[in-house]
Amino acid sequence: MGVGWEWDETLFSGAAAFYRRGRLPYAPGLADVLAEVLHLDGRGRLIDLGCGPGTVALRLVGHFGEVVGVDPDAGMLAEAARGAAELEVTGKVRWVRARAEELPAGLGDFDVATLAQSFHWMDRERVAAAVRGMLRPGGVLVHISDLKGESRPTDGLPCPPVPHAAVDALVRRYLGPVRRAGRGLLPRGTPTGEAAVLTGAGFAGPYRHVVPGGQAMVRTRDDVVAGVFSMSFSAPHLFGARLDAFETELRRLLREVSPSGRFSARRPGTEVFVWPRGSD
Ligand SMILES: C[S@@+](CC[C@H](N)C(=O)[O-])C[C@H]1O[C@@H](n2cnc3c(N)ncnc32)[C@H](O)[C@@H]1O
Repeated sequence: MGVGWEWDETLFSGAAAFYRRGRLPYAPGLADVLAEVLHLDGRGRLIDLGCGPGTVALRLVGHFGEVVGVDPDAGMLAEAARGAAELEVTGKVRWVRARAEELPAGLGDFDVATLAQSFHWMDRERVAAAVRGMLRPGGVLVHISDLKGESRPTDGLPCPPVPHAAVDALVRRYLGPVRRAGRGLLPRGTPTGEAAVLTGAGFAGPYRHVVPGGQAMVRTRDDVVAGVFSMSFSAPHLFGARLDAFETELRRLLREVSPSGRFSARRPGTEVFVWPRGSD
């Protein structure tokens, strides 16, 4: 992680309530692709690390006998529990409030461990070693993220695109020019290079799969506002007493760009790396 940056429990404070509404969903075929490439048969155990509001755990719940989601943010776990209740799968899932660094935490062993846009927040060497030790023979770690560098043109779609650059400028005006993360600053962003970490921990592979996105979608002004508050670098807690003022300005900006309050976007593709546990 960035020099001088230390993880703290405020990282996603207040973001959970906005997360499911605000984040663009993973590509629609994600669960089917994982079921096929991992030969999922409705049995086995999944652990989802940095599970957030259960985004991946709940998509995959039908493909496992038991699912455990781990996250240090109580708000995220409350949302995950709500999602499980909506899907009527509460008997199959367990939500554990912990950092991944606390593993194995007596959670047992697993066939699949997923890390969806969460590994970069962790002490990766430590977590990789712990996860490898928790995987059964033949088990896999699956790293999931939005496909980076893909162009998602919105020309020809019915509504204006979300004015990301103007929103980012507004966030900087309130929170300063350097990316915020919890109580600290991340001038160079979160680390990349997870392949070297996982190879170093003894994992084999990886096997890469891209689940195509690109489907057009309409987002409302509330969805876009939720998206902003779902991000660690513009999470509600960072604005302190200026939260209402920021939201008012954000909504004004969005109204100017789209008086109808509707924006067009395209779903991102999802990139999946499957890392077999490998032999000892
Ligand atoms: C960007 S969200 C991803 C949530 C979910 N996996 C998804 O794909 O939608 C990152 C999540 O990682 C969690 N997180 C951050 N640091 C963590 C750590 N050290 N151990 C476990 N989870 C962590 C955060 O609380 C947050 O819920």
